[in-house]
Amino acid sequence: MCGIIGYTGYRQASEVLMEALKRLEYRGYDSAGIAILSPNLSMHKQKGELDRLRVRLPKIEGNVGIGHTRWATCGKPSNENAHPFVDCTGKIAIVHNGIIENYMQLKEQLGLESNRFTSQTDTEVIVHLIEKHFNGNLLDAVRLAMNEIKGTYAVAAMVQGSNELIAARKENPLVIGVGVNENFIASDVTALLSYTNKVKYVMDGEIVSITPDRIRIFDPEGNEVQREDFVVTWNAEDAQKGGFSHFMLKEIFEEPQAIHNSLLGALDIIKNGDILPNVQFNSIKMIACGSSFNAAMVGKYIMEEMAKIPVTLELASEYRYSPGAKEFPLVILISQSGETADTLAAAREARRRGCRTLGITNVIGSTLTREVDEVVYTRAGPEIGVAATKTFITQLIALYIIAIRVGYAKRALGHDSMWGYLNELRKMPGIVQSVLDRASEIEKASNILVEARDVFFIGRNINYPTVLEGALKLKEISYIHAEGYAAGELKHGPLALLDSKTPVIAVAIQKDLTYDKMLANISEVAARESPVLAIGCEGDRELAQLSDVQISVPCVQPLFSPIPVTIVFQLLSYYAANKRGCSIDKPKNLAKSVTVE
Ligand code: G6P
Repeated sequence: MCGIIGYTGYRQASEVLMEALKRLEYRGYDSAGIAILSPNLSMHKQKGELDRLRVRLPKIEGNVGIGHTRWATCGKPSNENAHPFVDCTGKIAIVHNGIIENYMQLKEQLGLESNRFTSQTDTEVIVHLIEKHFNGNLLDAVRLAMNEIKGTYAVAAMVQGSNELIAARKENPLVIGVGVNENFIASDVTALLSYTNKVKYVMDGEIVSITPDRIRIFDPEGNEVQREDFVVTWNAEDAQKGGFSHFMLKEIFEEPQAIHNSLLGALDIIKNGDILPNVQFNSIKMIACGSSFNAAMVGKYIMEEMAKIPVTLELASEYRYSPGAKEFPLVILISQSGETADTLAAAREARRRGCRTLGITNVIGSTLTREVDEVVYTRAGPEIGVAATKTFITQLIALYIIAIRVGYAKRALGHDSMWGYLNELRKMPGIVQSVLDRASEIEKASNILVEARDVFFIGRNINYPTVLEGALKLKEISYIHAEGYAAGELKHGPLALLDSKTPVIAVAIQKDLTYDKMLANISEVAARESPVLAIGCEGDRELAQLSDVQISVPCVQPLFSPIPVTIVFQLLSYYAANKRGCSIDKPKNLAKSVTVE
C-alpha cells in the first residue's frame, strides 16, 4: 500500500524521488505525487501510473523533497486526493501512509479555524494540525500534531526554508536510509537500494529528524535514542527484472535459488537448535492472510504429519476478534512482508493472551520481527510482483523445517526419519528446476484457461490447500473467477456449475492416500464435459487417460508435492494472465503490502 520517500542531500531531489517511487510501485498504488523545495515548495501529483506524473513533471531544481504512491482508502483515487498535501500557507508539505480514525472530528475542528481542505482524505488534517502547532520548529509541531491523532501512520513532513525532514511512525513501516552528505526516509528498503544499503529501522511511536549530515531519533517520550546501522544484503539488481518480461516470471524462475537459500538458513536453525529451544507446547495455532494463510494451511498437514501435534488455523483479520479459548498454543504468524496490519495486530493479541509467538517472514527488520518472540526468515530475496510466488514457496520450506524441529524435539520423529525428510527437502531446488524446464509445455496448457469465465481447482489432503493457492493466484493476476475445492466437496455444490466451458484443474499424486478418490472425482468432472487439466506424477498413464491435458511433475513423497504443484500453478496463472493482457505485476485494486486493517 502507500509508499513514502523523503530525501535531503546534494542530488536533484526530483530524480531521487521518482526513482524511489518506481521501486515502491510494487506495493500497489493508484496515484502518485512529489513536493520539492526549489527553494519555494513545488508540488506535483497525478492520478494513475507513475509515468503519467513523470511526463507532466517540469524540471524542478532542489535537493530536498518528499514523494508518495497512494493506495486509496479514504477518498477515491483522484488528483485532489493524491499526496503530498500542503498547509494553508503553502509552506509545509506532508505525505502519509495509514488511517487517521478521528479525522472527521479533527476536520470539523480545524475547519472552524478556517483551514482550507482540498480533498476527501483523512491525511489532509495532519498537515493542518502541523500548521496549527508550527512556530519555527517542525519537529515539535509534528510531535504535537501526532499527539492529537488516533490511528496509524507513517508520515514525512518538510517546511520551506529548511533542509530538515521530519518523519513519524505508528504501526506503519518506516526506515531511514543512511548516506554520506545525504539521508533518506522510506517505507521500505527496496526504495533505497540504488543509493545505500545502510539503514536504521524506526520503531513504533518514534519521531525522526534528518538533514544531509545528521540523523536524530526520538522515542515516544521525546528522548533521543541511538540506533545501530543495519546493512541490507539485497542489492538493486535483485529488485530489477533482469531480462524477464515481468517480475512475477523472474521471481518464479528464482525459486530454486530461493529454496536453496532458505534451506541453508533453516538448516542452521536445526543444527544449532536456535529456534524453540524448550519445546513446551501441546498445540500450534497458525495465523496469516492471503497466500501466507494458504501456506499455513499446507503447514497444518506438514506439522500434524511430521510432529504429530494438533494445529489450528485462523485468518489474522478474524483472530483478534475471536473469543480466545483458555489455551496456550505456540502461535506461528506468517507474513512475507512482515507488515500486514491484521497479522501484526494478531501477533500483539497472541502475546496479550499469553502465548509464545514465532514469526515467519521474508523481510529482515520488518515490524513482525519485533512483535514476536522468535523469527524464522525465508530468505527469498526481494519480491516485487504483487502475487506471492517465491515467498510462498519458501514459507513452505520454513514450515517443513519447523515441523522437523518440533517433531524431533518431541520425539515424534526419530533420527533417521528426520534425516530422511531433510534429504527430501534438499532435492527441492532440483525438483523445482525440472518443473521450470517444462515452462513452454505449461504455457501451452494455459490455453485451456485463457477464455474461461470460471475455473475450479480440485485436490485432496495436503493438495487441498495447494489448490486454494492455485485458485488465488489465477484470480489475482488474470481476473478469471477461480475457486479451490476439496475434491470430496464437489458433489455438495460446484458440480452444478460444471459444463464444457468450465475447466477443472485437478491434482492427483500417486502414493497419496487419496489418489484413487481423486481419480474418481476427475471422472465425475469429465462426465459433466468440463475440460480437465490434470497435474500428476511423471509416467501416470491412468491419470493421462482421464484428462484432456496433463502436466507431469517429478515423483516426490506426497507430503512434499505442494512444492512442484504450486510451481505449475504459478506458471499456468502467469501465462494465462499474460495471454489475456493483464497487468501481471500490479493487478488492479491489489497491494503487495497491506498496511491497513
Ligand atoms: C496481499 C498480497 C498477497 C499476500 C497478502 C498477505 O494481499 O497481495 O500476495 O499473500 O497480502 O501478505 P503478507 O505480507 O502478510 O504475507
